[in-house]
Amino acid sequence: MSQKNLVLLGPPGAGKGTQAKELAARLRVPHISTGDMLREAVREGTPLGLKAKAVMESGGLVSDELLTGIVKERLAKVDCGPGFILDGYPRNLSQASILEGILTELGKQDVLALELEVADEVIVKRLSSRRSCPGCGTVYNLVFSPPKREGLCDKCGTGLVQRDDDREDVIRERLRVYYEKTAPLSDHYRHRGLLKTVPGDREPSQVLAALERAIG
Ligand code: AP5
Repeated sequence: MSQKNLVLLGPPGAGKGTQAKELAARLRVPHISTGDMLREAVREGTPLGLKAKAVMESGGLVSDELLTGIVKERLAKVDCGPGFILDGYPRNLSQASILEGILTELGKQDVLALELEVADEVIVKRLSSRRSCPGCGTVYNLVFSPPKREGLCDKCGTGLVQRDDDREDVIRERLRVYYEKTAPLSDHYRHRGLLKTVPGDREPSQVLAALERAIG
């Protein structure tokens, strides 16, 4: 049987969210995006959101302490029984070790990490042209997958918005933070025989097919 406790790795804009949504629907497991959870907390002005807002806007990482509780609570929900796709967590070696502890505590098997590889210049182009719908969450790209009507969501007609951290200076900072803190996770999982790497700079459907082959 294929492994269904999955972690998606890769730089900002590698396509983790795009692929996680499709894979989650196919595997019938929840897509858990810590970025989406944090953005929702910021929108709702919760204590977590108030603490995370400035860090996210600057391209840095929110503290491990703030993330541990929400990830643990989410993974303990009954819908994670058959598996889950974590997108954006873990983000550093310490979060990887926290995750291992959470999974052991919950009696779940370890994860398979799927890494999407995409060159920096492709990432800057993708992220500076990303737009999303605040109504239904659909993600577009003005270059690669534009909406049919300019500035409006195809599905619900809401006006599209740009994420605060998708400005070029913040994108470059997110990439710097990625190489410093997150990229070492590839070796962490590779050394444990738990890493599969897939090229992320192809058509989304081709990337999805490669991920499905990697899962087995
Ligand atoms: P998060 O939301 O996780 O952002 P990220 O990792 O930077 O990833 P993105 O959402 O920007 O990109 P993606 O890889 O999902 O790409 P997407 O599919 O959207 O985190 C945001 C912030 O929250 C962090 O900076 C940090 O502050 C905080 N945070 C979150 N988790 C944290 C944690 N665990 N610890 C601490 N802090 C945390 O695609 C991007 C664009 O490209 C879209 O327009 C899409 O349409 C397009 N696209 C996708 N695939 C393709 C393709 N194959 N070809 C062409 N275009 C494509």
